[in-house]
Amino acid sequence: MKASEALASRRSVRAFLERPVDQALIRRVIAQAARSPSGGNLQPWHIYALTGAPLAELKRTMDLRTAGLAGAESTEYDIYPKQLGSPYRERRFAVGEALYASMGIQRDDREARLRWFSRNFRFFDAPMALFCFVDRAMGPPQWSDLGMYLQSLMLLLREEGIDSCPQECWALYPRTIAGLVGAPGELMLFTGMAIGYADLEHPVNRFPSERAPSNEFATFLGFDAGSDNRTAQAATTGDKP
Ligand SMILES: Cc1cc2nc3c(=O)[nH]c(=O)nc-3n(C[C@H](O)[C@H](O)[C@H](O)COP(=O)(O)O)c2cc1C
Repeated sequence: MKASEALASRRSVRAFLERPVDQALIRRVIAQAARSPSGGNLQPWHIYALTGAPLAELKRTMDLRTAGLAGAESTEYDIYPKQLGSPYRERRFAVGEALYASMGIQRDDREARLRWFSRNFRFFDAPMALFCFVDRAMGPPQWSDLGMYLQSLMLLLREEGIDSCPQECWALYPRTIAGLVGAPGELMLFTGMAIGYADLEHPVNRFPSERAPSNEFATFLGFDAGSDNRTAQAATTGDKP
């Protein structure tokens, strides 16, 4: 699989088959993804991967904690800016609406939305999962390094036909998760990730997530006018040129 194919075929998968994931393969891609770049080669990622009994126990604990989200803890970082302005607010809204619409869940059906949201805390029934932590001493540049690591991992998984969903909703339960996986106090939980084989029949895995065209986020200086072609625009939106 080419890098472009891995990238194009990655999407956030939120319904998985029961099919198990090969443990040796996961160990390998977790190691391989560390070829990602990081400023000063700090390699600031700390990964806790779970399957089998520890994962089942975590899901059981979370079932009890998340009933109605009553047991949410205070987050250790802001998942989104407190004032999410345009165009980010609209983008967040659009993907949320597309997700719920794919399953026929109405905007005003708060209960159904919450019920769906709580499936995050079962890793959408994925057979494999991981948490990514970062040392509390690290700042924004190192947090961006985590993103590089996680994207490498997700692309390597695609090469193996495996799907994933990064899940920062786990930041709502930082103390519970640190306790369950045994992470030391100097580490802060960034995100979880569900890993497994996609249930391609499930509608939640079938809605498109939009991207803004590149002329909305990139500025090209010294480029020929003729280089702005439909192929470049289609590459960001995912449309056929
Ligand atoms: C760091 C990070 C955290 C995310 N957290 C969640 C999450 O908690 N729950 C969820 O359903 N999706 C989560 N997502 C998935 C995003 O909603 C998704 O990447 C975005 O809508 C684009 O869709 P795509 O990944 O299918 O291309 C997260 C993505 C990232 C990169």
